[in-house]
Amino acid sequence: MSLIDLRSDTLTMPTPAMREAAMAAEVGDDGRTGPSGKGEDPSVNCLEDRGAELMGKEAGLFFPSGTLANFAAVLTHCVRGDKVVVDPDLHLVRTEKAAFMDRFGGLTPVWYTRDKDEMPVADSFAKACSEGVRLACLENTHNYAGGTCTSLARMRELYAIASQKSVPVHLDGARIFNASLALGVSASDIASCADSVQFCLSKGLGAPVGSLLCGTREFITAARETRKYLGGVMRQAGMVAAPALKALETGITRLAEDHENARLLGQGISGFPGIRLASVQTNIVMLNVAESGQTAPWFENVLKEYGVLAKAMGNDHLRFTTYRGIKADDIKKAVAAFHAFIKENEGVLAQWSSMSSSYQQTP
Ligand SMILES: Cc1ncc(COP(=O)(O)O)c(C=O)c1O
Repeated sequence: MSLIDLRSDTLTMPTPAMREAAMAAEVGDDGRTGPSGKGEDPSVNCLEDRGAELMGKEAGLFFPSGTLANFAAVLTHCVRGDKVVVDPDLHLVRTEKAAFMDRFGGLTPVWYTRDKDEMPVADSFAKACSEGVRLACLENTHNYAGGTCTSLARMRELYAIASQKSVPVHLDGARIFNASLALGVSASDIASCADSVQFCLSKGLGAPVGSLLCGTREFITAARETRKYLGGVMRQAGMVAAPALKALETGITRLAEDHENARLLGQGISGFPGIRLASVQTNIVMLNVAESGQTAPWFENVLKEYGVLAKAMGNDHLRFTTYRGIKADDIKKAVAAFHAFIKENEGVLAQWSSMSSSYQQTP
């Protein structure tokens, strides 16, 4: 049985053009900085400049991963013991963690909440940005919330609040181009609501490796030093920067196909009692299975037997992600497999009949 792998958009494979670009890349030692403050790898420099341009920032810096770019950004803004305003479901908090671990970043989180549309609540954010806070972090699209977007109006409101309190903002824009497409605004409009922004090249854009951190020239110079201390320097990184540049050329506009596939998938697997579908806005379909009588890891394991790979996010949430390798036909097959899975497991999803009357589906 061939598997339809919807675990993550990090599964996107490099295109032939990306592989060719890697082979042909002009390279140098990116760890050696010249008088301009840039490294000596021309392909990396080209990628960093293009990334910064797309974000509307002065400068960019290439990292091997989004995790390291976020960590370096936070450590560049802060010193150990500082308070950082976050939502408990940020990737930085739930998955990456290191910034808030005593043995690594040693930072203290100050929480804000999200509203029913999964956007940060302005009042709660304002309250969290109290005296003594060093940084505020946002995420757009929001991964754990199911790839949902924070509107540009809300982003502006939050940035105005933080700026008024002299709190800089770091944006985890791992999927900022998905947000840009869904909101119908440019990525630089979204990034203009943050002092620093990280975006991933290796997710829906399809590059094999890497993330870019963008901000002012001064900030990026400091972040370059942080990256060095964290061991994040990659030497002839042009080998991966050149395909990433291709990803920026070709990967952004085609995200629309992923969004459409996610919409079709969401439509196809919605409506079952005990399984709530989060609003499908981008390339992520998130099911809340808390009321189904089974856990998300159980769903993940059993669904695999039907040829569909999804990812359990904690005990309650099951995530499906679309990306370039997934076609509309795969979505049709995944929907059919999901229906067969439900039908054949109705017995273990037993409580359904008793609770279907109270069941309310999120559109
Ligand atoms: C929102 C968000 N931020 C950051 C990252 C980290 O990126 P990487 O896997 O490149 O470390 C991810 C990865 O899934 C993510 O979803």
